[in-house]
Amino acid sequence: MKNITIAIDGPAGAGKSTIAKILSRSLGITYLDTGAMYRTVALKAIREGINTKDEARLEKLVSDIDIKIEYHGDEQHIFLDGEDVSDKIRTPEVSKGASDVSAVKAVRIRMVELQREIAAGQSVVMDGRDIGTYVLPNAQYKFFLNASLEERARRRYKEQLEKGIKDITLEDVKKDIEYRDKNDSSRDFAPLVKADDAIEINTTDMTIQQVVEKILSIIRS
Ligand code: DC
Repeated sequence: MKNITIAIDGPAGAGKSTIAKILSRSLGITYLDTGAMYRTVALKAIREGINTKDEARLEKLVSDIDIKIEYHGDEQHIFLDGEDVSDKIRTPEVSKGASDVSAVKAVRIRMVELQREIAAGQSVVMDGRDIGTYVLPNAQYKFFLNASLEERARRRYKEQLEKGIKDITLEDVKKDIEYRDKNDSSRDFAPLVKADDAIEINTTDMTIQQVVEKILSIIRS
């Protein structure tokens, strides 16, 4: 069977990773959460006291960063210098830092190299901001998921509460998402933008199952 590649892009909270994970299970293919890689760079910068907008120091930091992805069952685990940081990269501080470091060209070039290596020679569903436009421009299937800011903030807030993060308000989450949307869409290099040939799905009033079914019906048609 020919390898299939599926690119899923869109802003924070649009449902990309939830949908991509279900698709990877349904289709029996690898899932790569590329946001986790930018988050890991941000975590390292924060730990080393590097400003997440300091291009020169970030360029140096990614030149020898040790990021590895492993799959435990179908769960993606990400390792920084041998340490499993999969949970530690999910804090609001790291979210903001990830958006900042992802605007640095040298950081993106290094991460995209790793992403293309993982995609080479296997079927993948990859989610991010620039997968359909830059990382895998020849992907067979490209989707751009979107939803209203209010709904995306509600989803992220619910997720944070479920993870036991209680010192946060819906308004904080909304501000964080707005900051990242603006940052991610306005950077010069590989910004968040819908690829011309991507199918846009507005998930605001859709259930997860409805989005998955819509995508599967397109892939199987
Ligand atoms: O998908 P996420 O929220 O985990 O991503 C964290 C940040 O990383 C996001 O604000 C922008 C950046 N990112 C990116 O620039 N390109 C990608 N392919 C994935 C994420």
